[in-house]
Amino acid sequence: MADPTPIEIEEENTCSYNKPDDPCAIILFGATGDLATRKILPSLYFLLCSDRMPSPSIIIGASRSELTDEEFRQRIKEVFLETETDMQCWDDFSSRLFYRKADPGDIGSFTNLAGFIKDRENEFGTGGNRLFHLSVPPAAYEDIAESLAHVGLAEESGNWSRLVVEKPFGYDLASSKKLSNALMQGFDEHQIYRIDHYLAKETVQNMLMFRFANAIFEPLWNRNYIESVHITAAESLGVEHRAGFYDHTGVLRDMFQNHMMQLLSIMAMEPPSIYEADRIRDEKTKVYRSLRPFPTDDLDHHLILGQYAAGMIEGESVPSYVKEPNVAPDSSTPTFAAMKVYIDNWRWQGVPFFITSGKRMSEKRTDIQVRFKEVPHSMFRNILGEHITANKLTLSIHPEEEVRLTFQAKSAGPGMCLRNVTMNFDYAEGGTFRLSAYEKVLLDVLMGDHTLFWRQDSVDLCWEFLTPVLMECDCPEGAERLHLYKAGTDGPKAVHRLHDNP
Ligand code: BG6
Repeated sequence: MADPTPIEIEEENTCSYNKPDDPCAIILFGATGDLATRKILPSLYFLLCSDRMPSPSIIIGASRSELTDEEFRQRIKEVFLETETDMQCWDDFSSRLFYRKADPGDIGSFTNLAGFIKDRENEFGTGGNRLFHLSVPPAAYEDIAESLAHVGLAEESGNWSRLVVEKPFGYDLASSKKLSNALMQGFDEHQIYRIDHYLAKETVQNMLMFRFANAIFEPLWNRNYIESVHITAAESLGVEHRAGFYDHTGVLRDMFQNHMMQLLSIMAMEPPSIYEADRIRDEKTKVYRSLRPFPTDDLDHHLILGQYAAGMIEGESVPSYVKEPNVAPDSSTPTFAAMKVYIDNWRWQGVPFFITSGKRMSEKRTDIQVRFKEVPHSMFRNILGEHITANKLTLSIHPEEEVRLTFQAKSAGPGMCLRNVTMNFDYAEGGTFRLSAYEKVLLDVLMGDHTLFWRQDSVDLCWEFLTPVLMECDCPEGAERLHLYKAGTDGPKAVHRLHDNP
């Protein structure tokens, strides 16, 4: 294949960016945990340093531990120093950083927390706007949300109160609904921000622009021109230190119910009338509503599940999944899934979407390939034969951040030969300043922008869609469905079955 030809980028200054301007208090539950200290607090620190935090704003850490403000600041400072953070904004940051013990099992501690928040709000003039971030295990979401509601912190009257939760949103449809009911005891849907970090990836956001800000692709974006769509999130890492969570979760709940479904809907949705959170989320919901249910009597041709066996990754031997620390030796948890999905609507009728994700595969690669149909007739058949390779469009998220269009061209020289050539757009080229996924979502919550967050109706529809396959995996016979694949490969060989039977 020829080297990709860079395309010329014309800069246009059409970029709008707003800084959040509502003063607020950010209350971080699980403030001493890994997520808070390694991701959330560093992101808030970065936003402050780059003048993107509203003014005034304060941060109140909360967790079950008994700590003074000073002890909490010291802990965070140590993490920042360990990670070689530039400390030039530390004094400003730490002067806004506070701590209070809050234990959902002890409602008195929430009453105290509410009092503390109000005192600091009066002191700093943050006006009663509150962002509650739950950096805690999902099992604690319901209790914390209910306690917040109980002490009146969910209420909005001339101020806003926002609740941020991370996936997983439940374990199945029933538990997701139960969670949602608990959150909605005190918070309304417009107050809830369900994070999916895939949506905060710029290259994922770029897909919407690519599809709907260009006139030339959309006419081809349908069953008449597209043969199949392939959505892949392969990882070379194994379960790492997360077996306690992962062994009860598996790849379908960990990757498909959220990230993969988001990628699918962005690829398949209709253009909304305007770039506005609920218009976009409406269109995604319509895609989920149109998913063809899995044919449970022919699951083998629509779903392949796998689990990694021992193998080699980058020249190093790695153990099988069941030999990983804290994994049950007879675990039948899938670490790989490939599925063929159809969307029953006018645009996509008959076009298979192949969705694949797995751990311990040969490489870390996240991309979407759109394979177009072959030319209907080859006028070159007398010299080249009938077959001409079809066009392919790749939206690459990792490791490259690129859009690549592959097409056929004549090889240079006297002969009549074809070659594949690729036109390439490198996302980083021409870009300026970029935010990490957490910086971006926190900023959006501060601005009250729901575009990058899940809405409960979509969460429910995705659980509903996956329920039959989850039941298959969870039942005692689930292990029979599991294909072992060697770590460092492209997954189970059985994947070809998805293609055998269109
Ligand atoms: C997380 C999953 O949501 O996404 C992990 O829990 C997975 O198991 C990760 O490794 C993948 O994210 P990324 O951004 O590295 O593709």
